[in-house]
Amino acid sequence: MNGFIIYKGKYGATKQYAEWIAVETNLKVSALEDFDYSKLKNADVLIICSSVYVGKLLIAKWVKKNYHVLVNKKLFFVIVCATPSSEKKKQEKILRDNIPVELVKGNEVNFLPGRLTINKLSWKDAIILRMGSWIIKDPQIKKSMRHDIDGVKKENIADIVNKIKDYNVLTIS
Ligand SMILES: Cc1cc2nc3c(=O)[nH]c(=O)nc-3n(C[C@H](O)[C@H](O)[C@H](O)COP(=O)(O)O)c2cc1C
Repeated sequence: MNGFIIYKGKYGATKQYAEWIAVETNLKVSALEDFDYSKLKNADVLIICSSVYVGKLLIAKWVKKNYHVLVNKKLFFVIVCATPSSEKKKQEKILRDNIPVELVKGNEVNFLPGRLTINKLSWKDAIILRMGSWIIKDPQIKKSMRHDIDGVKKENIADIVNKIKDYNVLTIS
């Protein structure tokens, strides 16, 4: 099996996870914008990592555009966000709203905890977050949107790395 890792993130959390997974699996990793598209058709396995902004996976548009190529591959989705695993219904909604159901069936999805450093956000993202925290009624979620979060830890990739290793994937050179 041949494969590689692609990722799309903004402030480094997704990149960090993708790079850790690359080291542990010996697979090549590329940011979506640097990725050599000609390699896509020869890949059997793809690890697709993306963060979530206002309910949207940054990589969702690319996934939909390449649906016909991706549907024949083994896919591992790594979704990096602030929605915790205790909020299964919300995680399922993120998945449902972003990834065609046919690409989820028979494939793997892992949600990993993200990182939010408020003073590093662009002014636009800072405003979006602040406005979101005004609208949200749940006091706990409201509070979490006004403070830094850092759930990015190497140990979080253990499960996904084991699943990838079960497939004996080799990198595409
Ligand atoms: C403006 C903004 C909107 C966000 N929207 C969501 C969201 O809808 N759902 C969620 O779970 N996390 C949301 N997050 C949290 C990010 O997904 C999280 O910070 C993630 O780690 C970012 O990863 P990155 O640095 O790789 O882009 C949002 C963060 C920001 C700054």
